[in-house]
Formats: sequence, C-alpha cells, structure tokens
Amino acid sequence: MAISPSFSIDELQKQFETASYDTILKWVAAEYGSAFSLACSFGAEDVVLLDALLKIDPNARVFVLDTGRLHQETYEVMERFRGRYGVAFEVYSPDTVSLQNLLRAKGPSSFYESIDNRKECCGIRKVEPLKRALAGQKAWITGLRREQAVTRLALPKAEIDLSHGGILKLNPLADWTEARVWQYIRTNDVPYNALHDKGFPSIGCVPCTRAVLPGEDLRAGRWWWEAPEHKECGLHTKRK
Ligand code: ADX
Ligand code: SF4
Repeated sequence: MAISPSFSIDELQKQFETASYDTILKWVAAEYGSAFSLACSFGAEDVVLLDALLKIDPNARVFVLDTGRLHQETYEVMERFRGRYGVAFEVYSPDTVSLQNLLRAKGPSSFYESIDNRKECCGIRKVEPLKRALAGQKAWITGLRREQAVTRLALPKAEIDLSHGGILKLNPLADWTEARVWQYIRTNDVPYNALHDKGFPSIGCVPCTRAVLPGEDLRAGRWWWEAPEHKECGLHTKRK
C-alpha cells in the first residue's frame, strides 16, 4: 500500500466526508508534496479544482489524457489556463503502436459497434495513458461527483485505488451539486469549456459526446447509445 501509514483509510473517509474541498486539497499538498496529481479533463468540476489547487500550490502537477479526439473547445480552455495561471500541463497521448493497430484492424469509429469495442478504444486512448500518468504518484485527485451517474452514487471522498497500485484517490467534490460547481466558477471567474454554454454538461471525446436536452440526465450525452450502467470508460473502474 502506497499511502502514508499515519492514517487509516476508514478514518480519512470519515474525516473527509464533512471536510471542505480546500481542507482536502491543503491536506494532500502538505502530505504528498510533489507526489500527487490532479487529473484534468477541463470539465466544469476540473476547472474548479484547478483554480482551487493552484491557489494552494501553484506548482501542483496536473495531467491531461489527450485521447486525440478531444474537442477544440477543450484545447481552448487549456490554453486559457496556460495563459492566465502559467500551468505546464503534463499531456499524455495514446501509445502509437496500439492506436495504429486498432485503426488498421477496426477503423476510426469502432466504438459505435459494441460496448467491447468502445471499451477497447477507451482502453487505448485513456486507460493505458492514465497508468503512465500515475506511475510514481502516491495520490491523485479527480472531479468525480455522486450526482453525475448511477455508477457514482456511493463515491467516497477518499479511497484506495487498487487499479493503480493502491495509491490514494481523492474526490473532493463528491458531494457537490452542479449548481455549487457553477457558483464557484462564476464567483471566482474561472475559465470554462465553451461547450457548457451549448448544452454539454459532461464532455469527453468528440464522437462520443453530444448536447443534452433540458431535463435530461447529466451524462445522457456521453456514449448516448449505451445504457447508463455501462457508461464508465475504465478510468474509474474499481478493482476489488
Ligand atoms: S469519464 O470516465 O466518464 O471519462 P468524466 O468525464 O466524468 O469521466 O470525468 C471524471 C473525472 O475523471 C474528471 O473530473 C477527471 O478528474 C478525470 N478525467 C476524465 N477524463 C480525463 C482526461 N481526458 N484527462 C484527465 N483526467 C480526466
Ligand atoms: Fe474512444 Fe470514444 Fe472512449 Fe474517446 S470516449 S476514447 S473516442 S471510445
């Protein structure tokens, strides 16, 4: 187990459940120095965390999994953060050979054909790069929220990530509502993805994300052809 022996995960979960997002961010920065990272997709939750974390630790490590199929609007918000906050994002791309093999065997749009094919593409473009991004890290921070999906209802604010060597995974916004996320963005004038103003509450890759209608589920536009219980790409899949 890679976490510090100075606390138990049960105790941490109990304490963090009522702790504020900035208490959790300050704790991880003090506890792990340079051995923790923020996983940033530039969604609304992630820009909140970016702003809050950089105010605590301007040199915090932030990584981006660039699948090669991201929206131009996502790159634009990355640029705005680079300009305003001077962040040197660590960008991880898919392994070239794996991607070439996939494209040669199945073409560029195999993800529409089956859940297995979709997971294969996410595996090459996101999950394997995440493993590289987390190598040597002792903790990582995500923008996951309980309200986002049926698969996230029981999300703790702190967990041991067995899929990545037993490091600590922190979800400081787990209990935030969407309204609270937007209140933070407006109050702090944080740059955000322009697609949010065009009906995209949740943003992933171009071919697998679309706008939702008013009243539709937050993630209805992600892999919209699949059932809600399948809508995880493997970044946050639990290994027991
Ligand atoms: S996904 O699993 O369906 O793609 P979602 O878009 O809800 O995840 O994002 C949940 C969290 O996963 C984000 O807040 C972020 O911490 C992390 N994440 C998702 N996509 C990326 C990405 N491309 N790069 C870095 N982190 C990401
Ligand atoms: Fe591939 Fe779609 Fe997954 Fe992006 S979201 S990695 S394009 S299957």
